[in-house]
Amino acid sequence: MSSTLAPDIALAVRRAAERATLAPSIHNTQPWKFVIGAGRLDLVADAARHLAVIDPTGRQRAISCGAALFGARVALAAAGVEVVTQLLPDPGNPDLLATVTIIGPSTEGAEHAARLDAAADSRHSNRRQFLPEAVPAAVIDLLREAAAVEGAWLQPVTTLDDRIAVATYSQHADSLQNADGAYRAELRAWTTADPDRLDGVPASAVPQVNGGAHDDVPIRDFDTASAGELPEETRSSLYQTMLVLGTGGDQLRDWLIAGQALARILLELTSAGFAASIFSQFAEVPGPRQGLRHDLRLSGQPHLMLRVGRADATPATPRRRLADVISGG
Ligand SMILES: Cc1cc2nc3c(=O)[nH]c(=O)nc-3n(C[C@H](O)[C@H](O)[C@H](O)COP(=O)(O)O)c2cc1C
Repeated sequence: MSSTLAPDIALAVRRAAERATLAPSIHNTQPWKFVIGAGRLDLVADAARHLAVIDPTGRQRAISCGAALFGARVALAAAGVEVVTQLLPDPGNPDLLATVTIIGPSTEGAEHAARLDAAADSRHSNRRQFLPEAVPAAVIDLLREAAAVEGAWLQPVTTLDDRIAVATYSQHADSLQNADGAYRAELRAWTTADPDRLDGVPASAVPQVNGGAHDDVPIRDFDTASAGELPEETRSSLYQTMLVLGTGGDQLRDWLIAGQALARILLELTSAGFAASIFSQFAEVPGPRQGLRHDLRLSGQPHLMLRVGRADATPATPRRRLADVISGG
Protein backbone atom coordinates (compact mmCIF):
# COMPACT_ATOMS: atom_id res chain seq x y z
CA MET A 1 0.00 0.00 0.00
CA SER A 2 1.42 3.38 -0.92
CA SER A 3 1.71 6.03 1.78
CA THR A 4 -1.03 8.10 0.10
CA LEU A 5 -4.43 6.55 0.58
CA ALA A 6 -7.09 6.62 -2.11
CA PRO A 7 -9.64 9.28 -1.08
CA ASP A 8 -12.41 6.74 -0.39
CA ILE A 9 -10.10 4.63 1.81
CA ALA A 10 -8.88 7.75 3.63
CA LEU A 11 -12.51 8.65 4.32
CA ALA A 12 -13.20 5.12 5.56
CA VAL A 13 -10.24 5.34 7.97
CA ARG A 14 -11.48 8.65 9.35
CA ARG A 15 -15.00 7.27 9.71
CA ALA A 16 -13.67 4.11 11.42
CA ALA A 17 -11.95 6.23 14.07
CA GLU A 18 -15.22 8.11 14.62
CA ARG A 19 -17.26 4.90 14.89
CA ALA A 20 -14.73 3.50 17.37
CA THR A 21 -15.62 6.22 19.85
CA LEU A 22 -19.11 4.71 20.26
CA ALA A 23 -17.56 1.83 22.22
CA PRO A 24 -18.41 1.13 25.86
CA SER A 25 -15.77 2.13 28.41
CA ILE A 26 -15.31 1.79 32.12
CA HIS A 27 -17.26 4.69 33.76
CA ASN A 28 -17.51 6.17 30.24
CA THR A 29 -13.93 7.41 30.59
CA GLN A 30 -13.32 6.95 26.83
CA PRO A 31 -9.61 6.38 27.53
CA TRP A 32 -8.50 6.26 23.90
CA LYS A 33 -6.87 8.37 21.21
CA PHE A 34 -6.74 7.60 17.51
CA VAL A 35 -3.94 8.80 15.27
CA ILE A 36 -4.44 8.56 11.51
CA GLY A 37 -1.11 8.00 9.77
CA ALA A 38 0.09 7.06 6.33
CA GLY A 39 -1.85 3.89 5.51
CA ARG A 40 -2.58 3.16 9.15
CA LEU A 41 -4.65 3.96 12.19
CA ASP A 42 -3.00 3.88 15.62
CA LEU A 43 -4.83 3.34 18.90
CA VAL A 44 -3.15 4.99 21.87
CA ALA A 45 -4.16 4.73 25.53
CA ASP A 46 -5.05 8.06 27.14
CA ALA A 47 -3.11 7.76 30.37
CA ALA A 48 -4.86 10.80 31.86
CA ARG A 49 -8.16 8.90 31.91
CA HIS A 50 -7.03 6.30 34.38
CA LEU A 51 -9.22 5.07 37.27
CA ALA A 52 -6.63 4.62 40.00
CA VAL A 53 -8.99 3.12 42.58
CA ILE A 54 -10.99 0.48 40.71
CA ASP A 55 -8.49 -0.12 37.92
CA PRO A 56 -4.95 0.23 39.33
CA THR A 57 -3.38 -2.03 36.68
CA GLY A 58 -5.21 -0.38 33.76
CA ARG A 59 -6.92 -3.68 32.90
CA GLN A 60 -10.34 -2.13 32.34
CA ARG A 61 -8.87 0.84 30.51
CA ALA A 62 -7.27 -1.63 28.08
CA ILE A 63 -10.53 -3.59 27.75
CA SER A 64 -12.29 -0.31 26.90
CA CYS A 65 -9.64 0.51 24.30
CA GLY A 66 -9.93 -3.01 22.87
CA ALA A 67 -13.68 -2.43 22.46
CA ALA A 68 -12.96 0.78 20.55
CA LEU A 69 -10.42 -1.07 18.39
CA PHE A 70 -13.09 -3.59 17.40
CA GLY A 71 -15.40 -0.71 16.44
CA ALA A 72 -12.74 0.64 14.09
CA ARG A 73 -12.00 -2.78 12.63
CA VAL A 74 -15.64 -3.54 11.93
CA ALA A 75 -16.25 -0.11 10.37
CA LEU A 76 -13.32 -0.66 8.02
CA ALA A 77 -14.51 -4.16 7.12
CA ALA A 78 -18.00 -2.75 6.49
CA ALA A 79 -16.47 -0.16 4.14
CA GLY A 80 -14.71 -2.93 2.19
CA VAL A 81 -11.23 -2.14 3.50
CA GLU A 82 -8.93 -5.02 4.37
CA VAL A 83 -6.58 -4.41 7.29
CA VAL A 84 -4.00 -6.16 9.44
CA THR A 85 -4.26 -5.40 13.15
CA GLN A 86 -1.17 -5.67 15.31
CA LEU A 87 -1.52 -5.45 19.08
CA LEU A 88 1.29 -3.74 21.02
CA PRO A 89 3.47 -3.16 17.96
CA ASP A 90 6.19 -1.27 19.88
CA PRO A 91 7.57 -3.02 22.99
CA GLY A 92 9.17 0.29 24.01
CA ASN A 93 5.83 2.11 23.99
CA PRO A 94 3.09 0.19 25.83
CA ASP A 95 0.66 3.11 25.38
CA LEU A 96 0.62 2.36 21.65
CA LEU A 97 -2.01 -0.34 22.00
CA ALA A 98 -2.56 -1.28 18.38
CA THR A 99 -1.81 -0.42 14.80
CA VAL A 100 -4.36 -1.10 12.08
CA THR A 101 -2.56 -1.20 8.73
CA ILE A 102 -4.54 -0.75 5.54
CA ILE A 103 -3.95 -3.51 2.98
CA GLY A 104 -6.44 -2.45 0.31
CA PRO A 105 -10.00 -3.01 -0.89
CA SER A 106 -11.78 -6.26 -0.04
CA THR A 107 -15.42 -7.17 0.21
CA GLU A 108 -14.96 -10.34 2.24
CA GLY A 109 -17.28 -10.32 5.25
CA ALA A 110 -18.44 -6.79 4.45
CA GLU A 111 -22.14 -7.60 4.80
CA HIS A 112 -21.84 -9.08 8.29
CA ALA A 113 -19.48 -6.27 9.31
CA ALA A 114 -21.98 -3.69 8.05
CA ARG A 115 -24.67 -5.21 10.28
CA LEU A 116 -22.40 -5.05 13.33
CA ASP A 117 -21.21 -1.53 12.47
CA ALA A 118 -24.84 -0.34 12.17
CA ALA A 119 -25.64 -1.88 15.59
CA ALA A 120 -23.11 0.46 17.23
CA ASP A 121 -25.66 3.30 17.00
CA SER A 122 -28.24 1.50 19.14
CA ARG A 123 -25.89 -0.40 21.48
CA HIS A 124 -26.18 1.19 24.90
CA SER A 125 -25.62 -0.32 28.32
CA ASN A 126 -29.09 -1.13 29.58
CA ARG A 127 -29.57 -1.08 33.37
CA ARG A 128 -33.36 -1.51 33.29
CA GLN A 129 -35.35 -4.51 34.47
CA PHE A 130 -35.21 -7.17 31.71
CA LEU A 131 -38.24 -9.19 30.53
CA PRO A 132 -38.48 -12.55 32.33
CA GLU A 133 -37.85 -14.67 29.24
CA ALA A 134 -34.97 -16.95 28.39
CA VAL A 135 -32.43 -15.93 25.77
CA PRO A 136 -32.56 -18.61 23.01
CA ALA A 137 -29.69 -21.11 23.03
CA ALA A 138 -28.88 -20.15 19.41
CA VAL A 139 -28.21 -16.56 20.51
CA ILE A 140 -25.96 -17.71 23.34
CA ASP A 141 -24.07 -19.93 20.89
CA LEU A 142 -23.65 -16.94 18.58
CA LEU A 143 -22.22 -14.85 21.44
CA ARG A 144 -19.85 -17.61 22.55
CA GLU A 145 -18.63 -17.92 18.97
CA ALA A 146 -18.11 -14.13 18.84
CA ALA A 147 -15.89 -14.35 21.93
CA ALA A 148 -13.96 -17.31 20.52
CA VAL A 149 -13.33 -15.59 17.16
CA GLU A 150 -11.55 -12.82 19.09
CA GLY A 151 -9.53 -15.25 21.22
CA ALA A 152 -11.57 -14.93 24.44
CA TRP A 153 -14.18 -17.16 26.09
CA LEU A 154 -17.74 -16.57 27.24
CA GLN A 155 -19.10 -18.98 29.81
CA PRO A 156 -22.84 -19.14 30.50
CA VAL A 157 -23.76 -19.35 34.19
CA THR A 158 -26.21 -22.24 34.29
CA THR A 159 -26.30 -24.27 37.52
CA LEU A 160 -27.94 -22.94 40.66
CA ASP A 161 -24.63 -23.19 42.54
CA ASP A 162 -22.88 -21.12 39.88
CA ARG A 163 -25.68 -18.55 39.85
CA ILE A 164 -25.45 -18.22 43.62
CA ALA A 165 -21.66 -17.87 43.36
CA VAL A 166 -21.96 -15.02 40.85
CA ALA A 167 -24.53 -13.25 43.04
CA THR A 168 -22.56 -13.78 46.26
CA TYR A 169 -19.18 -12.65 44.89
CA SER A 170 -20.80 -9.66 43.18
CA GLN A 171 -22.57 -8.62 46.40
CA HIS A 172 -19.39 -9.07 48.39
CA ALA A 173 -17.29 -6.99 45.98
CA ASP A 174 -20.00 -4.34 45.68
CA SER A 175 -20.33 -3.91 49.43
CA LEU A 176 -16.56 -3.77 50.00
CA GLN A 177 -16.29 -1.11 47.31
CA ASN A 178 -19.18 0.98 48.62
CA ALA A 179 -17.61 0.95 52.09
CA ASP A 180 -14.44 2.52 50.63
CA GLY A 181 -14.41 6.34 50.57
CA ALA A 182 -11.83 6.46 47.77
CA TYR A 183 -14.05 4.22 45.60
CA ARG A 184 -17.05 6.44 46.27
CA ALA A 185 -15.08 9.61 45.51
CA GLU A 186 -13.87 8.17 42.19
CA LEU A 187 -17.40 7.09 41.29
CA ARG A 188 -18.75 10.57 42.12
CA ALA A 189 -16.09 12.11 39.88
CA TRP A 190 -17.24 9.96 36.95
CA THR A 191 -21.02 10.27 37.32
CA THR A 192 -22.86 13.37 36.29
CA ALA A 193 -26.23 15.04 36.04
CA ASP A 194 -24.73 17.80 33.87
CA PRO A 195 -26.24 17.43 30.37
CA ASP A 196 -23.27 19.33 28.88
CA ARG A 197 -20.59 17.00 30.20
CA LEU A 198 -19.00 14.83 27.49
CA ASP A 199 -17.75 11.93 29.60
CA GLY A 200 -18.71 10.01 32.73
CA VAL A 201 -21.93 8.08 33.35
CA PRO A 202 -24.94 10.40 33.01
CA ALA A 203 -28.05 10.32 35.21
CA SER A 204 -30.13 9.48 32.12
CA ALA A 205 -28.47 6.03 31.89
CA VAL A 206 -28.78 4.94 35.52
CA PRO A 207 -31.64 3.76 37.72
CA GLN A 208 -32.69 5.73 40.79
CA VAL A 209 -31.33 4.04 43.88
CA ASN A 210 -33.65 4.17 46.88
CA GLY A 211 -33.38 0.61 48.14
CA GLY A 212 -36.09 -0.80 45.85
CA ALA A 213 -33.93 -2.40 43.16
CA HIS A 214 -34.55 -6.04 44.23
CA ASP A 215 -31.22 -7.10 42.75
CA ASP A 216 -29.59 -10.45 43.58
CA VAL A 217 -26.64 -9.43 41.40
CA PRO A 218 -26.12 -5.75 42.21
CA ILE A 219 -26.06 -3.22 39.42
CA ARG A 220 -23.33 -0.72 40.27
CA ASP A 221 -24.83 2.26 42.10
CA PHE A 222 -24.04 5.16 39.78
CA ASP A 223 -26.83 7.27 41.31
CA THR A 224 -24.39 9.31 43.38
CA ALA A 225 -26.45 12.52 43.18
CA SER A 226 -29.93 10.92 43.58
CA ALA A 227 -30.66 12.01 40.03
CA GLY A 228 -30.98 8.61 38.27
CA GLU A 229 -33.65 8.81 35.59
CA LEU A 230 -34.34 5.10 34.98
CA PRO A 231 -36.87 3.19 37.11
CA GLU A 232 -35.64 2.11 40.52
CA GLU A 233 -36.74 -1.52 40.26
CA THR A 234 -34.13 -3.38 38.18
CA ARG A 235 -34.63 -6.97 39.43
CA SER A 236 -31.17 -8.20 38.42
CA SER A 237 -32.04 -11.76 39.39
CA LEU A 238 -29.69 -14.67 39.82
CA TYR A 239 -31.95 -16.54 37.39
CA GLN A 240 -31.38 -14.04 34.54
CA THR A 241 -29.14 -14.91 31.58
CA MET A 242 -25.59 -14.32 32.77
CA LEU A 243 -22.41 -14.87 30.78
CA VAL A 244 -18.87 -14.49 32.12
CA LEU A 245 -16.24 -13.12 29.73
CA GLY A 246 -12.60 -14.05 30.24
CA THR A 247 -9.25 -14.76 28.63
CA GLY A 248 -6.58 -17.40 29.15
CA GLY A 249 -3.99 -14.89 30.39
CA ASP A 250 -4.12 -11.64 32.32
CA GLN A 251 -1.65 -9.35 30.57
CA LEU A 252 -2.14 -6.18 28.51
CA ARG A 253 -2.51 -8.20 25.30
CA ASP A 254 -5.21 -10.39 26.91
CA TRP A 255 -7.09 -7.29 28.05
CA LEU A 256 -7.10 -5.89 24.50
CA ILE A 257 -8.42 -9.24 23.29
CA ALA A 258 -11.14 -9.20 25.97
CA GLY A 259 -12.20 -5.71 24.86
CA GLN A 260 -12.46 -6.69 21.20
CA ALA A 261 -14.47 -9.76 22.21
CA LEU A 262 -16.73 -7.63 24.43
CA ALA A 263 -17.50 -5.27 21.56
CA ARG A 264 -18.14 -8.10 19.08
CA ILE A 265 -20.49 -9.80 21.57
CA LEU A 266 -22.38 -6.58 22.33
CA LEU A 267 -22.81 -5.68 18.66
CA GLU A 268 -23.96 -9.23 17.79
CA LEU A 269 -26.54 -9.23 20.57
CA THR A 270 -27.74 -5.71 19.74
CA SER A 271 -28.13 -6.71 16.11
CA ALA A 272 -30.16 -9.75 17.24
CA GLY A 273 -32.54 -7.47 19.21
CA PHE A 274 -31.17 -8.04 22.72
CA ALA A 275 -29.82 -5.70 25.39
CA ALA A 276 -27.04 -6.15 27.91
CA SER A 277 -25.50 -4.62 30.96
CA ILE A 278 -21.97 -5.13 32.20
CA PHE A 279 -21.02 -6.13 35.75
CA SER A 280 -17.37 -5.85 36.65
CA GLN A 281 -17.35 -5.30 40.42
CA PHE A 282 -16.45 -8.95 41.18
CA ALA A 283 -13.31 -8.71 39.04
CA GLU A 284 -12.15 -5.45 40.63
CA VAL A 285 -11.65 -7.02 44.06
CA PRO A 286 -9.01 -9.80 44.17
CA GLY A 287 -10.81 -12.19 46.56
CA PRO A 288 -14.13 -12.34 44.68
CA ARG A 289 -12.35 -12.55 41.32
CA GLN A 290 -10.30 -15.56 42.39
CA GLY A 291 -13.29 -17.08 44.21
CA LEU A 292 -15.43 -16.93 41.10
CA ARG A 293 -12.62 -18.31 38.99
CA HIS A 294 -12.31 -21.25 41.34
CA ASP A 295 -16.01 -21.95 41.94
CA LEU A 296 -16.99 -21.72 38.27
CA ARG A 297 -13.92 -23.77 37.28
CA LEU A 298 -12.86 -21.10 34.78
CA SER A 299 -9.78 -21.77 32.68
CA GLY A 300 -8.13 -18.37 32.82
CA GLN A 301 -9.16 -15.01 34.22
CA PRO A 302 -12.70 -13.62 34.29
CA HIS A 303 -13.02 -9.92 33.41
CA LEU A 304 -16.71 -9.15 33.57
CA MET A 305 -20.18 -10.60 33.55
CA LEU A 306 -22.88 -9.75 31.03
CA ARG A 307 -26.59 -9.80 31.83
CA VAL A 308 -28.44 -10.34 28.54
CA GLY A 309 -32.14 -10.04 27.79
CA ARG A 310 -34.83 -7.87 26.32
CA ALA A 311 -35.77 -4.47 27.69
CA ASP A 312 -36.98 -1.05 26.63
CA ALA A 313 -34.20 1.01 25.07
CA THR A 314 -31.98 3.33 27.08
CA PRO A 315 -30.48 6.59 25.87
CA ALA A 316 -27.02 7.04 24.39
CA THR A 317 -24.32 8.34 26.73
CA PRO A 318 -22.20 11.32 25.63
CA ARG A 319 -18.90 11.12 23.82
CA ARG A 320 -15.91 13.47 23.77
CA ARG A 321 -15.41 15.86 20.86
CA LEU A 322 -13.87 14.02 17.92
CA ALA A 323 -11.20 16.72 17.63
CA ASP A 324 -10.01 15.84 21.13
CA VAL A 325 -9.74 12.12 20.33
CA ILE A 326 -8.73 11.82 16.68
CA SER A 327 -5.65 13.42 15.15
CA GLY A 328 -3.73 13.17 11.87
CA GLY A 329 -5.18 12.27 8.51
C1 LIG B 1 -14.48 -2.78 31.18
C2 LIG B 1 -15.86 -2.23 31.46
C3 LIG B 1 -16.44 -2.42 32.71
C4 LIG B 1 -17.74 -1.93 32.95
N1 LIG B 1 -18.31 -2.17 34.19
C5 LIG B 1 -19.59 -1.77 34.39
C6 LIG B 1 -20.23 -2.08 35.64
O1 LIG B 1 -19.66 -2.72 36.53
N2 LIG B 1 -21.51 -1.68 35.81
C7 LIG B 1 -22.19 -1.01 34.83
O2 LIG B 1 -23.36 -0.69 35.03
N3 LIG B 1 -21.60 -0.68 33.64
C8 LIG B 1 -20.33 -1.06 33.42
N4 LIG B 1 -19.72 -0.77 32.22
C9 LIG B 1 -20.47 -0.02 31.19
C10 LIG B 1 -20.03 1.45 31.13
O3 LIG B 1 -20.47 2.16 32.27
C11 LIG B 1 -20.61 2.06 29.85
O4 LIG B 1 -20.03 1.41 28.75
C12 LIG B 1 -20.35 3.55 29.72
O5 LIG B 1 -21.02 4.26 30.72
C13 LIG B 1 -20.79 4.08 28.34
O6 LIG B 1 -22.17 3.82 28.15
P1 LIG B 1 -22.70 2.91 26.95
O7 LIG B 1 -22.20 1.51 27.16
O8 LIG B 1 -24.20 3.00 27.05
O9 LIG B 1 -22.17 3.48 25.66
C14 LIG B 1 -18.44 -1.23 31.95
C15 LIG B 1 -17.83 -1.05 30.69
C16 LIG B 1 -16.57 -1.55 30.43
C17 LIG B 1 -15.96 -1.37 29.06
